[in-house]
Amino acid sequence: MQDAAPQTIHLADYRPYPFRLAEVDLTFRLAPGATRVLSRIRVEPLASGADLRLDGEGLRLISARIDGAPVAAVPDATGLTVPAAALPAGPFLWEAEVEIAPAANTALEGLYMSGGMYCTQCEAEGFRKITYYPDRPDVMAPFRVRIESDMPVLLSNGNLVAEGVGWAEWHDPWPKPAYLFALVAGDLRAHSGSFTTRSGRKVALNIWVRPRDEDRCDWALQSLIRSMKWDEDVYGREYDLDIFNIVAVDDFNMGAMENKGLNIFNSKLVLASPQTATDTDYERIEAVIAHEYFHNWTGNRITCRDWFQLCLKEGLTVYRDQQFTGDMRSHAVKRIEDVLVLRARQFREDGGPLAHPVRPESFVEINNFYTATVYEKGAELIGMLRALVGDDGYARALDLYFDRHDGQACTIEDWLKVFEDATGRDLAQFKRWYSQAGTPRITVQEDWQDGRFTLTLAQHLPPTPGQPDKQPLHIPVAVGLLNPNGDEVLPTRVLELTEASQSFTFEGLAARPVASVLRGFSAPVILEHPQDDATRAFLLAHDTDPFNRWEAGRALAKQVLSRMVRDGAAAAPDWLDAMARLVRDDALDPAFRALALRLPAEDDMAQTLHAAGIVPDPDRIHRARRQMAEALARHLAHDLPALWDRLRQHGPFSPDAASAGARALRNAALALMSRIDNGSHAAEAWAQADNMTDKMAALGCLIEAGHGGPEIAAFAAEWARDRLVMDKWFALQIAHAAPSEAVAVAARLTERADFDWKNPNRFRAVIGALSANHAGFHQADGSGYRLVADWLIRLDPANPQTAARMSTAFETLARYDADRQELMRAELSRIAATPGLSRDLAEMTGRMLKG
Ligand code: TRP
Ligand code: ZN
Repeated sequence: MQDAAPQTIHLADYRPYPFRLAEVDLTFRLAPGATRVLSRIRVEPLASGADLRLDGEGLRLISARIDGAPVAAVPDATGLTVPAAALPAGPFLWEAEVEIAPAANTALEGLYMSGGMYCTQCEAEGFRKITYYPDRPDVMAPFRVRIESDMPVLLSNGNLVAEGVGWAEWHDPWPKPAYLFALVAGDLRAHSGSFTTRSGRKVALNIWVRPRDEDRCDWALQSLIRSMKWDEDVYGREYDLDIFNIVAVDDFNMGAMENKGLNIFNSKLVLASPQTATDTDYERIEAVIAHEYFHNWTGNRITCRDWFQLCLKEGLTVYRDQQFTGDMRSHAVKRIEDVLVLRARQFREDGGPLAHPVRPESFVEINNFYTATVYEKGAELIGMLRALVGDDGYARALDLYFDRHDGQACTIEDWLKVFEDATGRDLAQFKRWYSQAGTPRITVQEDWQDGRFTLTLAQHLPPTPGQPDKQPLHIPVAVGLLNPNGDEVLPTRVLELTEASQSFTFEGLAARPVASVLRGFSAPVILEHPQDDATRAFLLAHDTDPFNRWEAGRALAKQVLSRMVRDGAAAAPDWLDAMARLVRDDALDPAFRALALRLPAEDDMAQTLHAAGIVPDPDRIHRARRQMAEALARHLAHDLPALWDRLRQHGPFSPDAASAGARALRNAALALMSRIDNGSHAAEAWAQADNMTDKMAALGCLIEAGHGGPEIAAFAAEWARDRLVMDKWFALQIAHAAPSEAVAVAARLTERADFDWKNPNRFRAVIGALSANHAGFHQADGSGYRLVADWLIRLDPANPQTAARMSTAFETLARYDADRQELMRAELSRIAATPGLSRDLAEMTGRMLKG
């Protein structure tokens, strides 16, 4: 049911719920077309005279009772109200029975079916599609759940208390908000293990999957065990139930969900074998398993007061999973990967019409705010806080946070207060990071006089939608200084930039140093530090900060590439020589070298050019980037084949970081060679590949070299029955298609019988891949825009959440020339004018059209 006029919800309007829920008791009688849900809730009034308002959507109300007597509650479009006059003065028992149809639920929110099993997704506001309830995170209650079904495996949150043939009962003693409720029923198999917590609790661990997937679960299980240990060692956090279940489902709107004791995952983030998963998949599985597990404390034990506080749990939990991956693998490599994602997704968002603060102040549909800004920029704010208060201060603040707020639904004010109380620092100015949108720019000016080196840093925060004027931020800028011979003369120190412009002076230097600014990417800003090619090449060779070493190479590559795009310049010798040194330096971590060899992405270049006041031309960027890769391949014509040979791996596949790093470097070499060898090495690589990482790499190179037809067919024949592998097959062909062909390739793929567009993974594999093929999506004739818009319009009635998320393909419209802008606006207007458009997609198109 669609409500006529979607309402805007404001942070400023928060009011506490006037009732406490002492206990929630649910019974599910599962049936695909008509599931019955009985709820019995012990309600205690906290204030007199309040109406009882319960949320509910798409429910068929069978009966409602208070203390056993029928109540005449008339549901409206979004719930029902029992007037205060009809309520007892004291505590009462609310009972309701509703009917829902999980098999008809294609939105994948609430109770739905996937691959023959029942499952739920309640965050953020899906519980109201299951029963009438105060569906808001500050209402926390212990849950008892009885499931009746002929499915062999019946799961819910907490501990299993009793079971028999056709039923099971679960009890979750930890009070929780409804968004953490979960239920699963299906024909599932467990890959099991156990973990004993440091205080001696033995926890049963199960990864639940469909029968034929059992042999692909061990990586997820081992990742879970590592996460549980790490949270004890690093944050002192223990698990708090006797069982921890993870279920993999094929139809899922996002990555995974942290339901208490019963995490539900997109199957692509659980299932892995060397034949079916790439190194990137292995790393992501490990990270997301950790992320959801870490939510048990940062999200579940301490949750959010309201959805405006989403970054309280997401920013912190992303920060924690990033630290974890760094500890498991390499901090330098992880930091580079995270910054690549931050720039590609968050800077992109922050620079366009969808820019919003880490803590938004209003929304129409909360699902539209599970964004890179809330998650990734939210995590950067935690990292900055830590840089400002130091490691010890951070540890004390976190201990205080867990002590003070366990069992509560909190705000960003609560969060910042523990830092202030634990460290004595004043974070009033820092708090602006939570309310001001946009990516700050910092310009750096150097001055060298009489042995004194002065850095002048100036900050500027551009206007964003609804925020024309900004106040200066409190920005930690980590800086180090190097001697011209490459030695470090000043180890990293954190400068605190609080004014619009500030100077920092360094004395007692024998020679003018080379400044390494924003080490470790200590703040999510755009740094404008004028340095010539030679200085950047020097830092790439000598910086002691590994992140800035990479960053120098990246800045150099962008500088070179933007000259190539703008005036057709040739690839600069400083850059070519720097890359050659890097390729030859076997003392450097191969994973680092692979990242440093990667050229800036086309979308990243478009963003960079736009920021410099230049209108990006997608075809020119594409051509220049190809020329750049070819020039590098020629320059390294002797090194690359040797490197590729040398890094060939023998013996069984292992997903560990070192092996993955070697494969990454080897495949980076392959990609470059393929630019000039007509795909001959790629053909050899394809023939030899014994794992999915190498297969995907070889096939991508073959396609780019204009070949790959037979290999694409052979791949499909081999994997036709494997949904996850076929998702890769769909996406790969579009990702590597030439700009003029990408739309046709995508359109042809949508005509296949196995283009099951209601499955979000499959939809993303095609429509998402086209949106991500920069020059293909932005074809001047508008065909890319049209195809994506057609499919968003088609998906929206079935799955508004995923349609709205995918509409961000258009968020960059303001970057491009007038003709492209007009074409993009026309498609957005066409979407916006679609009758019956969801609230989700209506909000997104409205924001993008408004600019
Ligand atoms: N809380 C989840 C996480 O960060 C993500 C999430 C929010 C989600 N809404 C969802 C997942 C809807 C799936 C569907 O891990
Ligand atoms: Zn999360």
